Amino acid sequence: MRILVTGNMGYIGPSVVKKFRASYPEATIIGLDIGYFAHCLTTDNILPECRVDVQYFMDVRRIPREMLVGLDTIVQLAAISNDPMGNQYEEVTLDVNYRASVVLAKKAKEAGVGNFIYASSCSMYGAAEDIPRTEQSALNPLTAYAKSKVFTERDLEPLADPGFKVTSLRFSTACGMSDRLRLDLVLNDFVAGAVASKKITILSDGTPWRPLINIEDMARAIDWAGIRDIKEGGAFLAVNVGSDDWNYQVRDLAEAVASIVPGVDVSINKDAQPDKRSYRVSFNLFKTLAPNHQPQLDLKTTIYDLKEGLEKMQYDGQNFRNSKYMRLKVLTDLRNNGLLNETLEWTDHSNIRRRG
Ligand SMILES: NC(=O)c1ccc[n+]([C@@H]2O[C@H](COP(=O)([O-])OP(=O)(O)OC[C@H]3O[C@@H](n4cnc5c(N)ncnc54)[C@H](O)[C@@H]3O)[C@@H](O)[C@H]2O)c1
Repeated sequence: MRILVTGNMGYIGPSVVKKFRASYPEATIIGLDIGYFAHCLTTDNILPECRVDVQYFMDVRRIPREMLVGLDTIVQLAAISNDPMGNQYEEVTLDVNYRASVVLAKKAKEAGVGNFIYASSCSMYGAAEDIPRTEQSALNPLTAYAKSKVFTERDLEPLADPGFKVTSLRFSTACGMSDRLRLDLVLNDFVAGAVASKKITILSDGTPWRPLINIEDMARAIDWAGIRDIKEGGAFLAVNVGSDDWNYQVRDLAEAVASIVPGVDVSINKDAQPDKRSYRVSFNLFKTLAPNHQPQLDLKTTIYDLKEGLEKMQYDGQNFRNSKYMRLKVLTDLRNNGLLNETLEWTDHSNIRRRG
């Protein structure tokens, strides 16, 4: 079995590789990443990429078809992965998350790959807090990031057939400790604030709904997508991934963190503009199709793990919202230092290419 995981050097990638390594010890696992966040590690004990057999430093926009021949499964995680980056780099977001993903799927199909797994997002439901949204509900993407996911799903669907299984996993917002932690995700942000300064500052009025999922449970869902039977769900499947118990309002997440980290002060910004991105999601379909791959981690355990992970790092990032654990901050620094061009390609690479 040969598995390609793109975007493996990000936040979720290391747990996906670990999961595949455990499920298929004999598999050849290939990582591919442009490496924006390669240096944003939380541990100096291990480089997560030691768990892959081959690591490519490559732009997903430039994968040659020949590289895909002989692969069984592709997991497409590579992306400009949140709204702040998507707002700043709108066209790149559409290029990487949408156009490159569809081109990759087309090349994969031509190359005879059987399985294409796409990391989509529940953020495509946008403003949807009245009732939990199902896969049949109308989509309402509010940002370039969310639109990139909607467009990709739309264009992936017609490619699927019995020989080319496509699964679009509409993930809840990720949380949990990782070798390449992100602190620009709501729960991780709250735990970092609590650990670093005993303060949680909610940037909205605290009312928005967000379904959450631990990254280990995301990896479990990706593992399932590889083996799911197309008799149930079809050759193309878009499915919400998370669990009904994990539909939280942002202020409840802050209170949950405060109940675990002693002496934490929670402040809600009463003057904040309402955050339009608020959605409740139904995970019934995922429960029916993947009974043996349901999320297993709970909120408390996730908060404890994050707290412990940050404490182990001796994390005292009072100014963590301006640290290397914020994806947009890293891209901005790379741009300011002239290392990335406006399309977020490495300037060294493009110079080399220009020189032929
Ligand atoms: N984190 C979440 O809450 C969440 C929720 C739903 C879906 N997802 C999706 O899961 C995937 C992974 O998310 P993450 O949180 O690990 O994000 P991340 O930003 O930590 O990782 C994304 C990785 O993709 C790589 N990448 C970006 N552009 C690339 C390119 N042109 N070529 C090759 N590699 C490139 C980056 O270097 C990075 O290592 C993304 O597709 C994201 O949209 C994430």
